[in-house]
Amino acid sequence: PEAADMLLLDDFEAWAERVLSGTAWAYYRSAADGENSFMENRNAFRRYFFRPRVLRDMSTGSTETSFMGVETSMPVFISPAAMAKLGHPLGEVNLTKAAAECGIVQMISCNASCSVEELFEAKQPGQALFFQIYLNKNREESAALIRKVDNLGAKAIVFTVDVARQSKRTRDVRYKAMQNPTRKTDQPVQKAKSVSESISGYQDTNLTWKDITFIREHTKLPIIVKGVQSLEDVQLCVDHGVEGVILSNHGGRQADYAPAPVDILYEIRTHRPDLFDKIDVMIDGGIRTGADVVKALAMGAKAVGLGRPFLYANGTHGQEGVERAAMIMQEEITNTMRNIGASTVDELRPEMVGPAGPWVG
Ligand code: FNR
Repeated sequence: PEAADMLLLDDFEAWAERVLSGTAWAYYRSAADGENSFMENRNAFRRYFFRPRVLRDMSTGSTETSFMGVETSMPVFISPAAMAKLGHPLGEVNLTKAAAECGIVQMISCNASCSVEELFEAKQPGQALFFQIYLNKNREESAALIRKVDNLGAKAIVFTVDVARQSKRTRDVRYKAMQNPTRKTDQPVQKAKSVSESISGYQDTNLTWKDITFIREHTKLPIIVKGVQSLEDVQLCVDHGVEGVILSNHGGRQADYAPAPVDILYEIRTHRPDLFDKIDVMIDGGIRTGADVVKALAMGAKAVGLGRPFLYANGTHGQEGVERAAMIMQEEITNTMRNIGASTVDELRPEMVGPAGPWVG
């Protein structure tokens, strides 16, 4: 099927499973241990329903908004994900070009399979690229990298903090194990490394709040902490002068049984809504429909990220697929907003969404 035949983001996933290499599918789809957080990320959205309003003037409207000081055609961004070339020979360049076409922010992974120079080369004038970093055990390397992307024109640094240890990415590890020789020999066998293992060796897994100060010393760019998983840590990010947080459990790839980001968002909305005025709160994980996006926005998120869906769309249809995936989101967001009575993102209010079942205020 062509990109235009894809109706839901799930259609890309189903197609990706059929056409991606075994390695790519195992790495992309992989999640930690028993995959409970991976499943919960998506299921949690099914527990929130809308309280629509009718008979409002919907003759004008748009999905445009801004987050982290950057204007965007809709409150959706491309979450940083490594190794896009596993799915398509042009890799992340497709994501950069599609993001420009669609007017959305791309967060570039520091484990991207294209060089940062290539990606900033592909950038259109006015297009905003954020750069995600894992700190290197050698901090000098990290300092140099931060300065480099700052000079290239990155608009924010995304500091990923949810890898305090590389977790067991079950499918990724299993797929590689299938390629190890099964016959017993006396010779030492060079075991194949999973994709996750082979790209993460340099990463420092011992990080503390002091590392935010370290990043701040090397750049004036806004800092977003990605992988925050509790209300308390959102407050600590505010205390450390950070401009943004992404509530995320790494798409269920790190701590299994880490909470679904939308539930943390709902907790903030219920107990500490003042935090939304102090810091830009974003979420990612399990977002697959426009309704998911609108629920998160109504609760107080400024924008939401998608990881796997864009990798799958890139893998099946390249840049065109990524653009189609973004268009599907845009259409679904527009439909949902209009049908619940919000013509602009600003009109999405906390009272328009809540736990399924009778409204309890
Ligand atoms: C990721 N993610 C990720 N995060 C990050 O900060 N740096 C990275 O290099 C990567 N790499 C990566 C690779 C792959 C294949 C996946 C699936 C994910 C996590 C990513 O940014 C995001 O948090 C999740 O993908 C969001 O969940 P969904 O949208 O995939 O459900």
